[in-house]
Formats: sequence, C-alpha cells, structure tokens
Amino acid sequence: MVNVAVIGSGYVGTVAAVAFAIAGNDVVGVEASAEKVAALRSGSVPFHEPGLEQHLAEQLATRRIRFTDDLAEGIAEADVVFICVGTPPGLDGRPDLTALRAATAQVGAAAQGRTIVVTKSTVPIGWGEEAQEILRRTNAGSDMSVVSNPEFLREGTAVSDFLYPDRVVIGGDADAVDTVAELYAPIINQSFPGGDPTCRPVLLRTDLATAETIKYAANAFLAAKITYINEVSRICDASGADVEIVADAVGLDHRIERKYLGAGIGYGGSCFGKDLEALTFYGVDHELDLPLINSVNPSNLRQRQHIIIKLRAALGGLFGRRIALLGLAYKPDTDDTRGAPSVTIARHLLEANADIVAYDPVVKQVDELPNLERATDVYEAVTDADATVLLTEWTEFGDIDFARVAELMRGDLVVDGRNWLDPHRIVAAGLRYHSMGRAPVTPPATD
Ligand code: UDX
Repeated sequence: MVNVAVIGSGYVGTVAAVAFAIAGNDVVGVEASAEKVAALRSGSVPFHEPGLEQHLAEQLATRRIRFTDDLAEGIAEADVVFICVGTPPGLDGRPDLTALRAATAQVGAAAQGRTIVVTKSTVPIGWGEEAQEILRRTNAGSDMSVVSNPEFLREGTAVSDFLYPDRVVIGGDADAVDTVAELYAPIINQSFPGGDPTCRPVLLRTDLATAETIKYAANAFLAAKITYINEVSRICDASGADVEIVADAVGLDHRIERKYLGAGIGYGGSCFGKDLEALTFYGVDHELDLPLINSVNPSNLRQRQHIIIKLRAALGGLFGRRIALLGLAYKPDTDDTRGAPSVTIARHLLEANADIVAYDPVVKQVDELPNLERATDVYEAVTDADATVLLTEWTEFGDIDFARVAELMRGDLVVDGRNWLDPHRIVAAGLRYHSMGRAPVTPPATD
C-alpha cells in the first residue's frame, strides 16, 4: 500500500483523494481553507458532483481518508504527493501558476525522505522541468522526483472516470513512475471492490513532456471534434440536411466514432477553452505554426453567435423580446458555469435589449450575470416568453409538457441549443421547433 497526500480539495483533488481511498490507499487531503477542510471532514462536498458525497462518506467511515489544512503534517508520511491546485486562466489568458508554484515550493520545503511529487493539475508543457527546479531550490538535499499524471475526468461522471479510465498516463523517471504505477495497480487491474476486470485501462509510461502533451492533445482533439460537427451543423442549417443523421453516419466509421459529435451551442467548462488557449500560447512562445489548433476556440465561440442569429431571424428582432433560457450549467450534472455558452448567450441577448429569464435546476448563481432574472421552474420561466431556448440538456427537461408551455408562452418559438428535445412533441403542441442543424420538422397533418 502506498501512502498518498493530495494537495488541493477542488474538483480534481477531491475526486482523486476519494478515488485513491476507494482503490484501497491511505489518503490525506490537504486543503488550505480550514472551512473546506471542516466541510469535507463532515462529508460535505462544496460542489455538485453526483455520487461523490456518498463515496466520501463511505471512505471517511473506513478511515482511509482524512483532511487537514496543515501541509507539512499532511505530507509527512506520504510516499506520493499529488498536486491538484487550480491553474485558472490569468489576465493574459495564460494559465496562472501562482498557486501551483507555491504548493510545489511548500511540498519541497516540508518533504522528508523519498517523496514523489505528482502534478495532476493541467499545466503548460514544460512545467515538470520547472517543478524539479523549485524542489531542488527549496530542499537541496532531498530525494524527490517529479511525475506528470494528467487527469481525463469529466465533471458529472468524475468518480467513475477516475476508477474506470481508458488509460492511465504516468510520465517521469522510471523509478518514480513505478511507484505511481503501484498506487494505480488496483485501478489498472480493476481489483478494487466494484472493479471491472473485463475493462482494464492501458497504462502508459512516458517521459514528463510526453505526459504533459498527451493531456493537451486529447482535450484539443475532443474540442476540435465538437467544433467540427458544429461547423457541419451550420452547413446543415443552410442546406436543410439533418446534422444528427450526418453525425450518425460519420460516426459509424470506426476510425471516427460518434462520441463528441454532438452538435449544439459548443463546448464550455474550465478545460477545453483554457487548454486550447494554452496550446496557442505554446505555439507563440516556440514560434510554431498551429492554424488548426488556433482556430478551434474562435469557431466554438462563433457557434454561440449562431444561436443569437437564429433567434433574431426567427423572432424578427430581439429588442424587447422575452426569452426563457433553460439551463445555465455548461453541461448537465454539474453546477459549473465557467466558460459556459449560457453566459455569452445571455450577455449577447442583454446587449440586444432582450428581456431574459433563466431556469437551471442546480446552478445557484452566475458571477458574471449578477442581475439575471431567475425562475423557479420551467413553467414559470416560459410564462409570457416569446422564445424558449434550451441551453443545457438536464434530464428533467425531457419531461417538459409542451402543451402547457404553448399555453403559457406569448410566442411559439422553441430553440433547442443541444439538439436534444423531441421535435415532434414540440411541433405537435403547436410550437415552432428550431435546432442547431437538425432538419425542419413538419407539424402533424390535421383533418
Ligand atoms: C473535459 C474532458 O472530457 C476531460 O477528459 C478533461 O479532463 C476535462 O475536460 P468536461 O469539461 O468535464 O471534461 O466535460 P465534457 O463532458 O468533455 O464536455 C465538455 C463540453 O463539451 C460541454 O460543454 C459539453 O456540453 C460539450 N460537448 C460535449 C458538446 O457540445 N458536444 C459533445 O458531443 C460532447
């Protein structure tokens, strides 16, 4: 068994700490905020992630996991220290490494004996070298190695993504990689309680720079795939073709696959946009020509304008129009609105003097939109609306009673920003259905 410390109890850190405990290791979660530590000790998670609180409660009960705000005490027994602090975009758009540098220096100063320092935070390529330098500076005589172990988990399915991954990437020098691989053995072999031995992930041992690059290459590819189908959806809007059938057909090619060919209002969240931007900066800094990678974020943002253009055309203008937004989170099963298309779309609508009201079942507040009018359910939101716009495909929106919506709305336009609603039910209720590249649906014939 390997003793683990996880620095940072944000999204990645909390999930990693709980998942390593589930995999049978002794884990200490280190978090600077005493308030967060108190919450986690009592089994409360400060963000919305389905199933995580229950897993945390179970692991607290086994005593395999504990939390502290004292870094030196927290890492004293650790063989492996994971650094999972945030690297949010700085003022210039580059990842802000202040917290990461500080945490690495603190670990360097406090580490005793052989310690492996693993970076899980998403970091610019080349960070591993800098981390090694920081550790050398803060603790010259120490026996420490830096390893990169990027995470690929998605919000909303984070625990299962961690426990049942497609691959585990560990980059660094061979001995250190072996120790981290040992820690992952129950996950690689799927031998932890609840593991699935028929689905073992691939373990990839690499050097530091390769591990760091894999993370960016994977996220950039997924973001580009979404952006690609969104551009195809614009072609479908113009041609009358149906993007869902096009995506099905393209995705049936095993070389391509259907996943991440979901057309809509584009990606949001704290990763794809930021990672693409970091690659663009890498290209600038190293004088690399990366036109494909550089075009992905701008095209993704164009898709948010595309839905505004649709609304303006279908409503004959936006001034004074009342528009109900269903969903604010950047995707379902999270309360996260970082980089969310909803924020940009709401801002565009407000700038055009539309009158907007939003309903989201989980998001409590959107910092960028402090005065946003909020409704307590779908039906309150759509009352007197000229248009209803789906921005997040929350499961509960699958049960919307569109006959009731038609009675409550002032207008008759429903725009499905995620190509997720059943167009036939909407049209049957006498409403107009617009989407992101789906073929038009004709109303049922009447006698
Ligand atoms: C992503 C990566 O998937 C994950 O591997 C990485 O570690 C972190 O970034 P996440 O941002 O949590 O995870 O969510 P994901 O489910 O990948 O969706 C990202 C965005 O893409 C969401 O806004 C989602 O709505 C959008 N999306 C996804 C599409 O628009 N179409 C799709 O087909 C898939």
